[in-house]
Amino acid sequence: MASAAAILWPIISLTIWALYCSVCLARNYQVARKIGLPVRVIPIDHTNAVWTLLDRKVLYYIRKLPGFLGNNSFTRYNFRTWELHDRCSSHHEMGDAFIIVTPFRNWLYISNPATITEVFRRRTDFPQCIELTEILDVFGKNLGTVEGRQWQVQRKIIASCFTEQNYEVVWTESLSLAHDMLEYWTKKRDISSSADDLRTLSLHVLTGAGFGKHFPFEGHDERTETSVSGNYKNALQMILENCILIMGIGPKVLARIRPFLPKAWKLAILSETCAEFQRYMTIMYEEEKSKQADTAPVRTLMSSLVRASQVEAKTGAGLTEREIYGNMFMLNFAGHDTTAHTFTFAIHFLAAHPDVQAWVSEEIRAVHTDSQRDALNNYSVDFPRLVRCLAVMLETLRLYTPVPVAKWTDKGTASLRIGSKIALLPPNTMVIPSYAAVHTDPSIWGSDSLEWRPSRWIKANSGPPGNEELIVPSDGSFLGWSEGARNCPAKKFSQVEFVATLAILLRDWHVDIVPESGESLVDSQKRVMDLIENDSGAVLLLQMLHPERVSLVWSKST
Ligand code: HEM
Ligand SMILES: *[C@@H]1O[C@H](CO)[C@@H](O)[C@H](O)[C@H]1NC(C)=O
Ligand SMILES: *[C@@H]1O[C@H](CO)[C@@H](O)[C@H](O)[C@H]1NC(C)=O
Ligand SMILES: *[C@@H]1O[C@H](CO)[C@@H](O)[C@H](O)[C@H]1NC(C)=O
Repeated sequence: MASAAAILWPIISLTIWALYCSVCLARNYQVARKIGLPVRVIPIDHTNAVWTLLDRKVLYYIRKLPGFLGNNSFTRYNFRTWELHDRCSSHHEMGDAFIIVTPFRNWLYISNPATITEVFRRRTDFPQCIELTEILDVFGKNLGTVEGRQWQVQRKIIASCFTEQNYEVVWTESLSLAHDMLEYWTKKRDISSSADDLRTLSLHVLTGAGFGKHFPFEGHDERTETSVSGNYKNALQMILENCILIMGIGPKVLARIRPFLPKAWKLAILSETCAEFQRYMTIMYEEEKSKQADTAPVRTLMSSLVRASQVEAKTGAGLTEREIYGNMFMLNFAGHDTTAHTFTFAIHFLAAHPDVQAWVSEEIRAVHTDSQRDALNNYSVDFPRLVRCLAVMLETLRLYTPVPVAKWTDKGTASLRIGSKIALLPPNTMVIPSYAAVHTDPSIWGSDSLEWRPSRWIKANSGPPGNEELIVPSDGSFLGWSEGARNCPAKKFSQVEFVATLAILLRDWHVDIVPESGESLVDSQKRVMDLIENDSGAVLLLQMLHPERVSLVWSKST
C-alpha cells in the first residue's frame, strides 16, 4: 500500500500541476492575443528556478527529435540566453515587437530603439521587476531591490559615490594589479586560468577602490584554499563564488541551521563566512562613521556611501544601517562578475584577433612612450585618449551583453507606441528590450554586425592614434549598461578598470592561443571563436562556460 502511494502521489501532483499550468497558459494566451502583436507560446516560464538548472541539457536532447517535435517555440525560446542564439531572426520574422506567452507571465520583446528609449524614460509606467532581483537582499535591502520613492533615495546616495576621485583610485589599482597579473602570466608557458585570474583582478579592484582594502594580485596557482579565518577579501570571495546557494537559502536560515550541521560541511562553512563578512562590514561601517569629522577627500565607494547617507539623514532621507550593508554587498556583487566576464570574453576575442591587438597596442604606445612601471599613471590625461582600448570593451559588450534588463507593467496598464502601432499592455506584462537583436541589427551596425570589430566604434579620420574619437550610438541602440534613470551607475568605473588593465596587458606584450596538436593558427582561432559563440550561457549572468578549455600564451611584442 505504502509503495503504491509513493508512486501515485508524485504522478498525481505532477498531473495537477501540469493542468494548472495549462489553464494559466491558456489564460495568458487569451490576454496576449488581445494586445494584437505576434505571439509565441512556451510551456515553462524561463525564470522557473528548477527549469533553469535543466534547460540546456533537456533541450539538447529534444532538439534531436525529428521535424516539428525537435524544432518549435519550445526548443527555440524556452531557455535562458535564447536571445543570444536568435539575434535578429525572430524580430525579422515578426517585426519590432512580439510576445512570448508562458504559464506565469507574458514577455513582450521590443527591438525598436525609439520604443526602448520610451520604456526607459517612463520609469513609473515601466518599473523594474524587483521580484527577479529580490534574492540580492541577502544582507539588506539595496539599490537593486527597491522601487519608487525608496529607489530614488538610494539611487541619489549611491550615484554620488561614483566620482572622478574614485576613478583615480580605480585607475591606479587596476594598473598595479594588471601589472602583477601580466607578470604571473608571462612567467608561465601556458595559461588556462585566464578567466579565474581576471576574476581575481576585478575582485581586488573592487575591494581596493570600493572599500579601501588593498590586496596584491594572486595568480590561480598561488591562491591558497579560501579559509573562513582569512580576511575581508577571502570572505567576500567565498560568498560571491557560492552566491547562488547563499541567496537560495538566505544567510538568516543558514545561521539558524548552523548548530545542526557538521562543522566540515560546506553549508556550515558558508554560514560562518556570511557571519564573518557581516562582522567585517560592521567594523568598516563603524570606522567610517568615526571618521565623519575628517575633511580629507573621500575616495572609496564605502566612505562616500557612509558620508552621503549621514548628510541625507539630516533631511530624513539617509540609509538605515542594514541598507548600508545591503548596498555594500550589492556593489560588490554587481561589480564583480559583470566586469570579470566582460574581460574574459575580450581576452579570448583578442587572442583570436592578433590584428586587433596590434591596432590597440599602436594606440597605447602613442599615449605612452616609455616603458617604466609608472607609465600611464595620469588617469585624467591618459584614460580619455585610450579609446581603442575602450572600443574593445564596447564591442565585446555589444555582442555578449552580460546583464539583461527587465521592466514590467506591474499592477498598471500602459499604452506603448511601437512603430506605427499603439499597444495596450495589461498588468503583469514583462517588457524586455531585445538587446541581442538591437546590438546586431544590420540597419544600425552594418552588414558585418555579427563580427567582432572594435574599430567600428572609432570615428573615421578623427585624429591620429591616441587622439581619436568614439562614435556615440543613437538612443536605444546600445544597452550594455542599460539606459535611462536606472542605468548602471558604475559605467565609467568599469570602463576605467577595463581600459587601465588592457593598456598594461597590450603595451609590450601580445597573447596567442596555444594550438592543439597538429592545429594550424587559423584552426585554433576558429576553435576559440567557436567556444565563444557556441559555449556561452548563463550561470547568473552571461559568460563563457568553459574558458579553461583554451590555453593562452603571452609573448613580448617587438
Ligand atoms: C562591464 C561591467 C558592467 C556592466 C556591463 C554593467 C551593466 C549594468 C546594467 C545593464 C544595469 C541595469 C540592470 C537592470 O536594469 O536591471 C546595471 C545596474 C547596476 N550596476 Fe552595473 N554593470 C557593470 C559594472 C558595474 C560595477 C563595477 C558596479 C559597482 C561597482 C555596478 C553597479 C551597479 C548597480 C549598483 C546597479 C543598479 C542600479 C539601479 O538599480 O539603480 N555595475 N549594471
Ligand atoms: C526550424 O523550422 C523553421 C520553420 O518553421 C525553419 O525555417 C528552420 O530552418 C528549422 N530549423 C532547423 C534546424 O531545422
Ligand atoms: C596629469 O596631467 C595634468 C596635465 O598635464 C596635470 O595637471 C596633473 O597634475 C597630472 N596629474 C598627475 C596625478 O600627475
Ligand atoms: C557554432 O556552431 C555552429 C553549428 O554547429 C557552426 O555552424 C558555427 O560555425 C559555430 N560558430 C563558430 C564561430 O565556429
